[in-house]
Amino acid sequence: MPILLTLHVLGAVFLLGGMTAHALLRPAATSAAADARNALYQLAWRIQVVMVYTGSALLLITGVLLWVGRFKLFTGWLLLGVLLFIAAMGLDGAFLAPTLRRARRGPAGDSDRSSGMAASAVTVQLVAWFLLLVVLFLMVARPF
Ligand code: HEM
Repeated sequence: MPILLTLHVLGAVFLLGGMTAHALLRPAATSAAADARNALYQLAWRIQVVMVYTGSALLLITGVLLWVGRFKLFTGWLLLGVLLFIAAMGLDGAFLAPTLRRARRGPAGDSDRSSGMAASAVTVQLVAWFLLLVVLFLMVARPF
């Protein structure tokens, strides 16, 4: 299935590329002046929609199609890979994307609270990025 695998790897390029861009943009945005911060969060939201959402949907659909019929259901690297993928997307959906959505609308009323959220988002973003790197390793090395 060379076309499916190509689309799957394209999804990985989009998702990891998007998450890497976020990991670079977030610390820059937290320390930038107000109008630069706004522009950086607008860009981060565009990356979220065009790269992270598109990439993760592409990965999920093509990944399941590649799995079915070719690998057993209980294949270690696939199960762990999917679990870590879900963990990373959970962090993204439950915390990272909402902070971006809020930040690009402009500063919230309680600026202490929102700057605290922005600081923890930098760490959570790095954790999600690292989880995806582990998935990449599992998919390529297939160690068990
Ligand atoms: C729902 C999540 C996922 C599923 C079900 C899944 C499933 C699969 C399967 C079955 C293959 C083997 C294809 C074959 O050889 O025919 C594969 C390969 C691959 N996957 Fe995933 N995948 C998922 C998520 C990811 C993620 C998040 C990444 C990267 C961050 C990724 C990167 C790759 C890469 C690079 C390959 C090619 C490995 C190679 O051919 O050496 N996948 N995936």
